[in-house]
Amino acid sequence: MPVVVRQARRRDATAVARLIHDVYRPFAATFRPTALRWSAETVRACSDTWLIARAGNEWVGVVHQTPDPEGHTLDALAVTPHCRRKGVGTQLVAAVEDRALSLGTRRMVIALRDGLAANIAFFTALGYRPTRPFPPSHHLYVKEIGARE
Ligand SMILES: CC(C)(COP(=O)(O)OP(=O)(O)OC[C@H]1O[C@@H](n2cnc3c(N)ncnc32)[C@H](O)[C@@H]1OP(=O)(O)O)[C@@H](O)C(=O)NCCC(=O)NCCS
Repeated sequence: MPVVVRQARRRDATAVARLIHDVYRPFAATFRPTALRWSAETVRACSDTWLIARAGNEWVGVVHQTPDPEGHTLDALAVTPHCRRKGVGTQLVAAVEDRALSLGTRRMVIALRDGLAANIAFFTALGYRPTRPFPPSHHLYVKEIGARE
């Protein structure tokens, strides 16, 4: 499945928000996912900070990424269910890391919710390591990316 990752455009905002809500709504049965705060309007207002993955005509993943005082960070990572375990998430995170490197940042940081074992397994597989608790329900994970220079 050839997947192309590119920066979102303002006109992509509705599709970005729809994919996020499709992926994160099931989590709402057990906690309130922060990703569900995103709407088409708020995505549109910062569309250049979103990356989208497409396979042919299909949207298969999105991620939001921004600089952070502790490194470069990402949120609302979402891969459409039937396209998982095919490297789409890996490709999106690699694109975020490339963006961080292009901005001169050598450290990635992300808060991962404790108990989301699949999510933790995914980021651990990509080289992210836990550093400290991020109360009340997360740990901070970091990855040094300068070695890719
Ligand atoms: C987490 C998520 C983004 C992973 O996307 P993906 O495209 O399936 O991930 P990849 O195919 O790139 O997986 C890379 C590696 O991560 C690990 N991994 C990914 N999903 C996993 C899972 N469910 N359980 C255990 N390990 C997993 C594996 O080591 C995998 O390699 P392998 O398939 O060769 O074993 C996707 O499952 C998703 O959208 N989940 C729901 C939303 C979410 O939790 N987002 C993250 C919050 S920040």
